[in-house]
Amino acid sequence: MSRLPIGIVLNGVTGRMGYRQHLVRSLLAIREEGGLPLADGTRLWPEPILVGRSEAKLAEIAQRHGLTEWTTDLTAALARPDVQIYFDAQVTQQREKAIRAAIEAGKHVYTEKPLAEDTAAAVDLCRAARAAGIKHGVVQDKLFLPGLRKLKRLVDGGFFGRILSVRGEFGYWVFEGDWQAAQRPSWNYRAADGGGIVVDMFPHWHYVLEQIFAPVRSVQATIATHIPTRVDEQGSAYGATADDAAYGTFELDGGAIAQINSSWAVRVYRDELVEFQVDGTHGSAVAGLRECRIQHRGSTPKPVWNPDLPATERFRDQWQLVPDNEVYDNGFKVQWELFLRHVHENAAFPWDFAAGARGVQLAELGLRSAAEGRRIEIPSLEL
Ligand SMILES: NC(=O)c1ccc[n+]([C@@H]2O[C@H](COP(=O)([O-])OP(=O)(O)OC[C@H]3O[C@@H](n4cnc5c(N)ncnc54)[C@H](O)[C@@H]3O)[C@@H](O)[C@H]2O)c1
Repeated sequence: MSRLPIGIVLNGVTGRMGYRQHLVRSLLAIREEGGLPLADGTRLWPEPILVGRSEAKLAEIAQRHGLTEWTTDLTAALARPDVQIYFDAQVTQQREKAIRAAIEAGKHVYTEKPLAEDTAAAVDLCRAARAAGIKHGVVQDKLFLPGLRKLKRLVDGGFFGRILSVRGEFGYWVFEGDWQAAQRPSWNYRAADGGGIVVDMFPHWHYVLEQIFAPVRSVQATIATHIPTRVDEQGSAYGATADDAAYGTFELDGGAIAQINSSWAVRVYRDELVEFQVDGTHGSAVAGLRECRIQHRGSTPKPVWNPDLPATERFRDQWQLVPDNEVYDNGFKVQWELFLRHVHENAAFPWDFAAGARGVQLAELGLRSAAEGRRIEIPSLEL
């Protein structure tokens, strides 16, 4: 079977997402399977070119995985004729200018979210990508998680009747870094470095709501910096200037109300790190990363409020597990495969820069809503 190499610049590959999810779990996993099979029988073979700031770290990663191509010179990497795709998993702040350079070099661009730091920049990147005629995409990994795919299946199958509400609970305790190391990078907690949970998570909530339920029509958010001082990777204390919790309400087209709590200062008493409860006239579901449970109207109990008695029913036992009914691969890898097919076979890829810009817009308007203490309607973006 013939193998067709496709050069992919991976920038930010020393980071958490760049290394684990995109290099190892996606592109190297595709190689381990013998490449991505195309319709004509050829196998597309990702050839990663690792880009970053530290020669030593890049060389170490390359050596660990038997790769030979790495550089600290992004311009040189983008000038290579064998490179077709630029991928960005850098810190958010560095993204815009690198993507712009990739577009100018005529490369297709796939990127981690958020697409840019503000809506104007995201819209501008979208326009530039369209004008250059390149293919573009933004990571929307949550859509490819088993739990959310089961939820989408339920929506598509009409399980809920009229959907009334979506309650999302996301978060876990991120250690302050003093007596136990923090499990997230310190830039996440500094506004000046592009941190904050709204900028991080609202782009995710945007595509989850828009693509599983309905477009988001308004946002109202309250934000907090619950932990004001943290300790960084070098052991130095710093002031946390970015929001570490956001309590958001989103009105959806058609009238459903979504409420999503996002927090790095909450302890988990749930089955998964994110869970969405969806209530509809005909049934309800609770979906996490992997599992999804349902309760149909026909099996809904009739509890009666009586605080004088202990709970008479085991409510959690009254839900039914939704079966897998298919095999779920890593979500990042699935979306990479779709992007590669988009580039190579022109397959549809709706998760483009326009979708990414709408996610950035929701984060920006969420922050504005919190600053101004009011609900904000979301205008449609002129793209
Ligand atoms: N899709 C998801 O679920 C998900 C989850 C977490 C993070 N992300 C996104 O991925 C991106 C990277 O996040 P991460 O958690 O991997 O961060 P990280 O700090 O672990 O990695 C950041 C990468 O950017 C590089 N970098 C380039 N310029 C830098 C600079 N000036 N300062 C610091 N680092 C610089 C670092 O070397 C590193 O390779 C962010 O844009 C974030 O929003 C997405």
